[in-house]
Amino acid sequence: MTVTADQRELIHHVEANIDAAFTWDYERSRDSLVRLYEKAKTSQWNVTTDLPWDSDVDPEKIAAELSMGTTARFQTLGEIPGSPVAHFGDKEWLHVGVEIQNSLLSQFLHGEQGALLCTARIVETVPWIDAKYYAATQVMDEARHVEVFARYLDEKLSSQYRINPNLKSLLDDIIADPRWDMTYLGMQIMVEGLALAAFGLMRQTTTEPLLQQLLRYVMSDEARHVAFGVLSLQEYYAGLSTPELRERQEFAYETAVRLQQRFMQAEVWERMGIDPLAIKRLIDEHPRPEQQLFQTLLFSKIVPNVKKLGLLDAADGWLRERFAEIGVIQFENWVDTGEEYAALDEVAKDRAAATS
Ligand SMILES: [Fe+2]
Ligand SMILES: [Fe+2]
Repeated sequence: MTVTADQRELIHHVEANIDAAFTWDYERSRDSLVRLYEKAKTSQWNVTTDLPWDSDVDPEKIAAELSMGTTARFQTLGEIPGSPVAHFGDKEWLHVGVEIQNSLLSQFLHGEQGALLCTARIVETVPWIDAKYYAATQVMDEARHVEVFARYLDEKLSSQYRINPNLKSLLDDIIADPRWDMTYLGMQIMVEGLALAAFGLMRQTTTEPLLQQLLRYVMSDEARHVAFGVLSLQEYYAGLSTPELRERQEFAYETAVRLQQRFMQAEVWERMGIDPLAIKRLIDEHPRPEQQLFQTLLFSKIVPNVKKLGLLDAADGWLRERFAEIGVIQFENWVDTGEEYAALDEVAKDRAAATS
């Protein structure tokens, strides 16, 4: 069978030279991971039967509700003389909002596939049996997340976006790294930590019942995933040397910067016929509080978790200084996800309510 250029574009290969690890030690020695695994087994849900798919979704209404996390950050740019969006009125901003919504959900979809691949990798590479068991449940969770976002985009929204280049290169780098702890740091701590905060912001602002319910359930799972990263790396990092920890700090910092860039919505501006670089320049020259608030809130889960891992203060506080420079250090004493994941389990709450 001949493969066309279009079909080739549908598959993206990333080369990785990794060691798959068997362990012959089946003893259940890591209690916190045992508890997490038990929780995961009883908190599975079904995309097909547990969500109100018959709800009518109005993309313009969602876009208007979500403007705090989408258009509000850009709208004030219209007031700057010579701005490429100076001629935008309500109609154009609503259109931008709908497109940002399509783009955000599309990036969630692609990020979920990244999580699916990374966690399947962890099943193979992590040397601890309790972590292999837990990671296997996360693989199922991520399949469900890819399924739910793909279906929502297809049935309820107006268009899809390809993966954002910053997110793509970040996922490629995480997948290509052969060290098992780097998969965890890149995916469970950084990408999923940011996703948990982003889903939370969206869930708080939308009243669309299907989107709200799917975000509640996806977040219940994501909280466990981030906790998985915290509980596993806490043990592993305790045994690393200062130079090894410094390498992890640099990786966390570079990932943070790349995740921030992802939210400039370059692909939306291109689709609207506006040069994304002109928008970026305007934002750099005229920093606005709404822009900064949004970008920093996305780090509200990452920073306390990185602190719990000891990465903020290792190597003379190298990462603490960097996080202060990018304006996110103020979250360091917020609750870490290793502590709060059980409280975020909405699936368990709904089941308890249904049986009482
Ligand atoms: Fe996920
Ligand atoms: Fe996840």
